[in-house]
Amino acid sequence: MYKIENIIIKNSYLDDKSIYYHKKLYISYLKKLNELLIKNDYDFRYSKKELISKIDIFNLNDRDDILYYLGAVLNHELYFNIITNNSNNKYFYDFIKIIEKRYTSLLNFKLEFKNISNKLVGSGFTFLVIDNNNELNIINLSNNETPYLYGYTPLIAMDLWEHSYYLKYNIDKEKYIDDFLNNLNYEYIIKK
Ligand SMILES: [Fe+2]
Repeated sequence: MYKIENIIIKNSYLDDKSIYYHKKLYISYLKKLNELLIKNDYDFRYSKKELISKIDIFNLNDRDDILYYLGAVLNHELYFNIITNNSNNKYFYDFIKIIEKRYTSLLNFKLEFKNISNKLVGSGFTFLVIDNNNELNIINLSNNETPYLYGYTPLIAMDLWEHSYYLKYNIDKEKYIDDFLNNLNYEYIIKK
């Protein structure tokens, strides 16, 4: 079975109650994923990321559900790592250097990230990814879709399901996005 990972969220701007619900949801996604895989006699030989490209080994009727829960688990694991604030200056400057190459300035990157995330209709995530041309790009994906499905490597995942901001920010999604972008785990992004 796949085990619970990255459940320790340190120094986050999020409140305990929001984190509690996030973890609860994540654990339920993981449980459902494991149940579906066991039902398909899967031997857990691949990592969760690898499993994305092996989806055709499963019963046709279960593939969509497996991808749904697998995406939910992968996206949340990345999100939990990213919202663990890390104030190490070295990684912050490394991050800025990479961002400036593509987005001119950190401010510009934040504006573009916000602009794109505001275009997401319904539930989903906004990601900073390394795309198939090895370039940084900001994309939205609906519900629990994962960038790995398209061969992209996600560096940042921002949860935009209502449960991610409603408890603390109510309908002030803008403030949630600002806090998210101002408290990234730069070390995790750089090392990825
Ligand atoms: Fe979530």
